[in-house]
Amino acid sequence: MISRRRFVIGGAVTGAALALPVTQGSAAAARTRTTTTGPFTVRMPVPPVLRPTSSTSTTDTYVMEVKEGVEQLLPGKTTTVFGYTGTFVGPTIKARKDRKVIVRQTNGFTGHRHIATHLHGGHLPPEHDGHPMDVLHPGDTREYHYNNRQSAATLWYHDHAHHEESENVFRGLAGFYLLCDPAEDYLRLPSGEFDVPIMLRDARFADDGSLVYVMDDFANRKTILVNGRNQPYFPVKARKYRFRFLNASNLRPFELRLQDGSQMIQIGGDQGLLPKPAPMTGFTTWPGERHEIVIDFSRYPVGTKVVLENVLGETDGERLIMRFDVVATASDSSLVPATLAPAPSLPPATNTRDVVLGPVDPVTNSMLIDGKTFDHNRIDNTIKLGTTEIWRIRNAESQFPIPHNLHIHLVKFKVLDRNGAPPPAGETGWKDTVTVLPGETVRVQATFGGYTGRYVYHCHLIDHASMGMMAQMEIVP
Ligand code: C2O
Ligand code: CU
Ligand code: CU
Repeated sequence: MISRRRFVIGGAVTGAALALPVTQGSAAAARTRTTTTGPFTVRMPVPPVLRPTSSTSTTDTYVMEVKEGVEQLLPGKTTTVFGYTGTFVGPTIKARKDRKVIVRQTNGFTGHRHIATHLHGGHLPPEHDGHPMDVLHPGDTREYHYNNRQSAATLWYHDHAHHEESENVFRGLAGFYLLCDPAEDYLRLPSGEFDVPIMLRDARFADDGSLVYVMDDFANRKTILVNGRNQPYFPVKARKYRFRFLNASNLRPFELRLQDGSQMIQIGGDQGLLPKPAPMTGFTTWPGERHEIVIDFSRYPVGTKVVLENVLGETDGERLIMRFDVVATASDSSLVPATLAPAPSLPPATNTRDVVLGPVDPVTNSMLIDGKTFDHNRIDNTIKLGTTEIWRIRNAESQFPIPHNLHIHLVKFKVLDRNGAPPPAGETGWKDTVTVLPGETVRVQATFGGYTGRYVYHCHLIDHASMGMMAQMEIVP
C-alpha cells in the first residue's frame, strides 16, 4: 500500500545531494524508540498577532518594516534574521472575509536587498500580488491592499523578490495570514487559544548561531524550526486543538505522525476546509502547503507527553519535531462537524494545458519549466479572463529523481487526479500548491477569473524557483 521511494533533494547535479525516502499518503509503520534527553527544553511560541495601526468600519491598516532582527532560535545563541517587523516568523495578520487589509510596508534593509511581499493563496489584482519584479528597494515604502474576497483559509505571506526570494525566505521572511469567515465560525471548530498556527521549516546554522545560506543546500539544512524554535514542547489541555501546519521550508518535505500512532483529523488544506473531515495517522507536507489538523488530547491522561515525529527524518534532530505536553483537563464545546465546506466545483474546462517540471539541465544546473528558465519579459501562457482550464502537470525528472511541486498565483484549484487515480482525502479541498513526484502527472482545474494582468506560477521548492523554475501567465480581457 505504501510506496516508499527515494528522491534526491538539493544539489542534485553538484553531487551534494541527499537521498530521502518518502512515503506518500499515510504514515509509515510505527517505530519504537525512546525519547532522547536534550530536545523539548524550550516552549513553542505562537507568533504574535499584529495590531492594526488604524481601523475603520471597512478596513484595517497595518504598518510593517522589513528589516534585520536578532532572535534566539537556538538556546543560548543569538541569530541575525530577516524579519517582517524584525521577527523570525513574522507577526500573524488576522483578516476577515470582505473586510479590507492594508499593509504599509517599508524595506528597512541597508545595501542592495530587494523585497517583494507575496500573499500566498491570495486572490488579488496583480499590483498587490508581489510579482517577483515588483520590488521595493531599501528605503522604499508602499501599500499592499488585500480585499479578502475569498473564503476562510490559512494563507501566508513571504518574500518573492526574483533571485533573492530563496535567501530572503530562508533568513526569515515568512508569516501567517489567517482569513476567517462566517461559514467557518458557524461550525464551532476549536478556536481562540485552541487554534494554533505552526510554521515548520529547516535551517542551517554555523557554530556561532548564524544562519548559513547556500542555494539548493538541502543536505546541510538539518535543524528543524517550529515557530522559530528547535524541538520545542507545547503545553496543551486535554481537549481538541486545531493546528494550522505550514511547511515554510525552502526544500524539505515532512511526513508527520504522532509517535504513539494515534489519530489526527485533517480538516483543511491550502485554501480552506475540506468537504469533510479526514481521519488519518499521518500526513505529508511539501513546501508551501498548509494542513489543518485537529488533535483531540482528551484521550490522554494529564501528564502525557506526545511527540510529533517526522517519519522522513534520518537523524533524531530531523525526526523529533516537537512534543505536546498534556498539562490540564479542560471542558470542550468545540466540534468537528461531519460536513465542513462545499466540495470544489467549477464550470467545465474549455482548454487543457501541459506544464512540465524539469528535467534539470545537467550542464547549467538550471531548473526548467516547460523546457525554459524564467524570463520576466516572456509570457508563457495567455489566458482569457474567466476561462476554466485543466492543467496537466508532469514531473519529467528521470536522471535525477527530483521532486517538484507547482504553485499557481491568483487561483485556487481542484485536484482532479493524481496519476489517473482520485486524489487522497487530504487533497479533496481547494488547493493552490500541489506536489508532483518524479514520473507523476497531476491534473488540476481552475477558473482564471477576477483580475487581468501578469502572474507567476512556479515550483515552491523555492530554491528551484530561484534557479529558474518559474513561468508567467497573463490574464487578458
Ligand atoms: Cu508562496 Cu509564488 O509563492
Ligand atoms: Cu502564491
Ligand atoms: Cu522544484
